[in-house]
Amino acid sequence: MSDKLRLGMIGFGGRGIGMLKFALLPLSEEEVDLVAVCDLYQDRVEEAQKLIEEKHGYVPFGTTNYKDLLTMDNVDAIIIMSSWESHVDIAVDAMKAGKPVGMEVGCAYSLNDCWRLIHTYEETGIPCMMLENCCYGKRELMILNMVKKGIFGDVVHCEGGYMHDLRDEIVTGKEKRHYRLRNYLHRNCHNYPTHELGPICKILNINNGNRLLSLTSVATPAAKGLHEYVISRKGADHELANVEWRQADVVKTNIICANGEMISLTLDTTLPRTYSRNFTVRGTKANYFELNDSLYIDQQDAKYEFKGKEMWGCAEKYEEEYLHPLWKGYTVNDGHGGMDTQVFRAFINAVKLGINPPIDTYDTVTWMSIAVLSEMSIAAGGAPVAVPDFTNGKWMERTDIVDQKYGLNKIIEIEE
Ligand SMILES: NC(=O)c1ccc[n+]([C@@H]2O[C@H](COP(=O)([O-])OP(=O)(O)OC[C@H]3O[C@@H](n4cnc5c(N)ncnc54)[C@H](O)[C@@H]3O)[C@@H](O)[C@H]2O)c1
Repeated sequence: MSDKLRLGMIGFGGRGIGMLKFALLPLSEEEVDLVAVCDLYQDRVEEAQKLIEEKHGYVPFGTTNYKDLLTMDNVDAIIIMSSWESHVDIAVDAMKAGKPVGMEVGCAYSLNDCWRLIHTYEETGIPCMMLENCCYGKRELMILNMVKKGIFGDVVHCEGGYMHDLRDEIVTGKEKRHYRLRNYLHRNCHNYPTHELGPICKILNINNGNRLLSLTSVATPAAKGLHEYVISRKGADHELANVEWRQADVVKTNIICANGEMISLTLDTTLPRTYSRNFTVRGTKANYFELNDSLYIDQQDAKYEFKGKEMWGCAEKYEEEYLHPLWKGYTVNDGHGGMDTQVFRAFINAVKLGINPPIDTYDTVTWMSIAVLSEMSIAAGGAPVAVPDFTNGKWMERTDIVDQKYGLNKIIEIEE
């Protein structure tokens, strides 16, 4: 393998183009070569080629058939940034072709697809890492660091979610050729579970001494928010004015872990609101609340018992002592505050070293599976659904987790 990791990238909608501009082209100065690009739409292939040509003066190979990338000897690894439904097929084919996969966040459509990814990994030894950027967020990593250092005591409850007003993105899906529209028309589930489930699973050692055991999901009525939005913004004659949306405005999922902890997730994407991932960590010695960025430590903060508002924003003062080593002196801004570049570096580093990535295939599949499991639970009126043990018992004693600077298992100090 050359010094630079040679990447083939698939999917150039909003995310693919954004990541190319703000994360991968900057990384291509020293860390990666962007050798091949693919999208189902020729105009998007050309847009990606043009961006790379403007930066480097060469035109990368372009195609509308991702399988072309899998036969290229000069492609070391594949980055998947395509729509959710395509992730598993592309990942499985790439792994079978011997190409490690960095796959954007998304959701599973069937347990069969989850197992396909697991079996392909176990048969080929080629990993699929979910590029869950929130695992490398500044606050998420700071809290992980504090949890590992014992500041939170025993963590018993975590909350998180994806709370993002996506009404415009969904309703303009036809013009923008965006996959969310069809998903919201046809499916009702926790369709975007991995921000903040990913960081929470790392805090609770899921798949490494702990595991997700079962869940229940309940949902509000189907997208009333989208109906109201279409009528008020587009008019009663719009083609989406009288459609029957399937996706609920709000989905709540509670997950129970093998060691007894509870994780509460919220999906809230079709009502007016500001963005939040509601990252919340409740321990026997401390609490963190992302909604007001406050950190409450037992005993030392007792004076704030009835003056919680005075603590809003106080988490910042812990940065000097507890910022994760990856964030010390780190100032990259890639549109998501730097976490996108961090997650790419974690993937690049793992592939170059030939080690199990910090978000491995078991994590990827476990996190994606919540979509299909929540779909079953909602359809059964909130009935409990078992989360399969995708590790087949390996979670009790892992021997394949590598502690390294991008690892999410153990905090590794980085020498200056
Ligand atoms: N991590 C984050 O913060 C973040 C942010 C936004 C989007 N995303 C993820 O990025 C992915 C893409 O999202 P988007 O908003 O760019 O979607 P999009 O619909 O705008 O783009 C997806 C692209 O994938 C292409 N595609 C689909 N199937 C393909 C196939 N078989 N071969 C080649 N190309 C194919 C489509 O033609 C389209 O251009 C999703 O998984 C999404 O969840 C992640």
